[in-house]
Amino acid sequence: MKKFLALLLAVAMMAFAFAGCGKKENITITEGTLTMGTNATFPPYEYTDENGDIIGIDAEIAAAVAEELGLKLEIKDMEFDSLIPAVQAGSIDIAFAGMTVTDERKESVDFSDTYAKGVQVIIVPEDSKIASPDDLVGKKIGVQTGTTGDIYCTDDFGQENVKQFNNGALAVTALTQGQVDCVIIDNEPAKNFVKSNEGLKILETSYADEDYAAAVSKENNELLKKVNEAMKTLKDNGKIDEIVSKYIKAE
Ligand code: ARG
Repeated sequence: MKKFLALLLAVAMMAFAFAGCGKKENITITEGTLTMGTNATFPPYEYTDENGDIIGIDAEIAAAVAEELGLKLEIKDMEFDSLIPAVQAGSIDIAFAGMTVTDERKESVDFSDTYAKGVQVIIVPEDSKIASPDDLVGKKIGVQTGTTGDIYCTDDFGQENVKQFNNGALAVTALTQGQVDCVIIDNEPAKNFVKSNEGLKILETSYADEDYAAAVSKENNELLKKVNEAMKTLKDNGKIDEIVSKYIKAE
């Protein structure tokens, strides 16, 4: 009799396990699609090519993650400071935007494992007297709205000294026109902007070091887990390195 009960229990447990397998959890807002939000003004992480397609490191990593998860990737371009609200509201599944992990943002969203390092650098005109972050006191600093450059500079130098722009390129244009004294932005976009504008340089002394990660809703642990697994696979098999070195050439 005992044996029979044990068998019955085993069968019941197997049935449970199978039921678990068969139930297809929908972990994205649109079944079969990973909807990614970004702000495509941030080369080489995300920007638009001649055809208006969004390309860059984040777009390709997201595509590779989606492929690992058997999902189609859809990209929604929006303002940088709309990304976290969009993740929270569930209008996108994930934000991939060279986004820095900060404690404050962690209160609103969950971050994936980090996949890149960022550095906030200072862009100045070639003949500027500004030589290090210490010289920024009382200077007009251009930033992209809602970025860590914006948040840290507002804290350190006061809101009245920080001029917000919709994107980094606009801040850099303002710098070339003398409307601000410097621009604080992530190092890789900074290199791109300095290359495409005459008479600018990046200071050797940087302003802040950071880590980039993707943001997902605090209510979607299942997606976070899957994204992290996919990212681990892509780190281990060299795919992430391959994507990064396609866009960032060693100097
Ligand atoms: N790393 C900075 C931050 O998280 C800037 C990111 C800006 N990204 C963008 N796609 N425009 O605040």
